[in-house]
Amino acid sequence: MGRHEEQYESRCFSFTIIVSLVLLIGRSAEGRPRALFVFGDSLVDSGNNNYLVTPARADSPPYGIDYPTHKPTGRFSNGFNIPDLISQRLGAAQSPLPYLSPELRGKKKLLVGANFASAGVGILNDTGVQFLNTIKMYRQIEYFEEYQQRVSGLIGAGRTKRLLNGALILITVGGNDFVNNYYLVPCSARSTQYSLPDYVNLLILEYRKLLVRLHDVGACRVLVTGTGPLGCVPAEMAMRGTNGGCSAELQRAAALYNPQLQRMLQGLNNKFGRDIFIAVNTPLMHNAFLTNPHAYGFSTSKIACCGQGPYNGIGVCTSRSNLCPDRTLYVFWDAFHPSQKANTLIVHQIMTGSTTYMNPLNLSTILTLDN
Ligand SMILES: *[C@@H]1O[C@H](CO)[C@@H](O)[C@H](O)[C@H]1NC(C)=O
Ligand SMILES: *[C@@H]1O[C@H](CO)[C@@H](O)[C@H](O)[C@H]1NC(C)=O
Repeated sequence: MGRHEEQYESRCFSFTIIVSLVLLIGRSAEGRPRALFVFGDSLVDSGNNNYLVTPARADSPPYGIDYPTHKPTGRFSNGFNIPDLISQRLGAAQSPLPYLSPELRGKKKLLVGANFASAGVGILNDTGVQFLNTIKMYRQIEYFEEYQQRVSGLIGAGRTKRLLNGALILITVGGNDFVNNYYLVPCSARSTQYSLPDYVNLLILEYRKLLVRLHDVGACRVLVTGTGPLGCVPAEMAMRGTNGGCSAELQRAAALYNPQLQRMLQGLNNKFGRDIFIAVNTPLMHNAFLTNPHAYGFSTSKIACCGQGPYNGIGVCTSRSNLCPDRTLYVFWDAFHPSQKANTLIVHQIMTGSTTYMNPLNLSTILTLDN
């Protein structure tokens, strides 16, 4: 096992040397922005679920109202989502397309990267089963391997390997394992099977396996986000908020999970002897908006822009929902997902945040180091 991993470690490493040599003679490795690959759930899905039979979709108005086309795309946002904003920071002319999109063909589109994320999924396969047809995490990684074969056919194995070595990977998953599994119904199968601390241990163990697998298939720089403020999203405030506030139980879950995730990532980096995994402290980023929304130009961090019922947190966002006129004043676009404005602030922290937010290093540092 150790030997196998060492092999991959040196593969990531040797690329850095090649790139440095190339830079010495004044050219970038491939002369194009690095590729971006995205894995996870609705926070980062850019439209894969449009191609699946599932109720977990964002392909009707008012989703996309602030997107350049002002049309829904499948993103769970009023405009750009986090992958779009990261992709812009990488200097890419377009975001990686959803892997299931029929438009993802040809060198020009494929070499930008690909988005494998699927709304509703979790670390565990049994998370989000109510959403029927989604791309489970293990399947997202299989698609990543399939992508590599396709690209290999276009540009050859050597260049494909270089593309991967220079690529940035973003993975956002885990929230659904709480809200759409453990806490979905009062006596869920998982909550009768496991105490909360044991369930968190299980999630971390299974997540670790997925990340090792991702590294085994060629991931060298992986941004791993923590959960959002699980108990403080409008949906949970509406359904199980305590005294008009956040859900104490879900906040407890997030408080148990996030530090363990950070430690697990640190452990993996130690094991591989390289900073492959970067812990993105999204809970702390969100916490800043939640405790002081006005400091960030928001009028509220509690009420969703689009929805109905208390906090606009009940049900889904549709054309019949309440819709706020100014989306820039809201932390939450819908009952679960941040607005484009909140996403922009999060990506700013991803670029420049201190080690409290980005551990062990921020994206601007990565971009200089790996260049
Ligand atoms: C999910 O299902 C796949 C395919 O059946 C399996 O390989 C994987 O181990 C499962 N993951 C978990 C966490 O049960
Ligand atoms: C993060 O990025 C900024 C540059 O934008 C840099 O000044 C700072 O030192 C970085 N922090 C860390 C911890 O890498």
